[in-house]
Amino acid sequence: MPSVHVITTPAAMSAWSEAARARGERIAFVPTMGALHAGHVSLLAAARKQGDRVVLSIFVNPTQFGPQEDLARYPRDLDGDLAKAASVGTDVAFVPGVADMYPPGAQTFIDVREVAQGLCGERRPGHFTGVATVVAKLFGIVRPHVALFGEKDFQQLAVIRRMVADLNMPVEIEGRPTLRESDGLAMSSRNAYLSPAERGRAVAIFRGVSAACERFAAGERGAIALVESALSAMKDRVDRIDYVEIRDAESLRPVERLEKPAVILAAAFVGATRLIDNMRLG
Ligand code: PAF
Repeated sequence: MPSVHVITTPAAMSAWSEAARARGERIAFVPTMGALHAGHVSLLAAARKQGDRVVLSIFVNPTQFGPQEDLARYPRDLDGDLAKAASVGTDVAFVPGVADMYPPGAQTFIDVREVAQGLCGERRPGHFTGVATVVAKLFGIVRPHVALFGEKDFQQLAVIRRMVADLNMPVEIEGRPTLRESDGLAMSSRNAYLSPAERGRAVAIFRGVSAACERFAAGERGAIALVESALSAMKDRVDRIDYVEIRDAESLRPVERLEKPAVILAAAFVGATRLIDNMRLG
């Protein structure tokens, strides 16, 4: 199996991309924070079909973590990640250090407004500014033709699409469906934090959003009733519900009656681990 070429500095990464572009190669990019699971591997496999060259980035981005969040203990497994990336033909892993991405004196941040409000934007103040800023920087360094993101982070994907449109960034954004464990739990690097007992309870978030989908399929169109179905499937199984909300699938604005495609989004703590999930309605 060919190994993945590891690049650690923005200058070397940009030089590699410039050379690939000069050869007329299409670059497909998958930005990650590492601790790759099958969902990331499926993004890389999809990228392989989309580009002549596949670039993965692994960077645990400090600016998207709040002071009380899990930056220090975020799972890291570079060797395992490189082996998984190699298994699906990834060409390059860009693995910069914090000082490479945020040199002393850095003071420019990207603030996407309406789409980043509410939901995780409200519960994790500053999170989407950190995400948008690092993704913009990665796009500037890697200069991909297409970038792939998982739909599990639905609001993140909406923020990135908005940023790319607003700033005329010449990159296609492709959202890919959430990959799930056999019981339905959405795959996430943070699932690694769960104890066996917590892992058993974590599936309640999937069951909650699924319950709302089932009620929607049965004809219910009121957002309050759909949210109630989700809440009753989740309560008693999770330790704290951060939010369960229904939003317009395009604008992410709140909706009361579902007349256009919508999405139910949920975030909840199981033990100390905060997990998110979502499902489209219509
Ligand atoms: O989804 C993630 O892993 C991160 O938020 C991202 C997009 C790589 C930015 O750090």
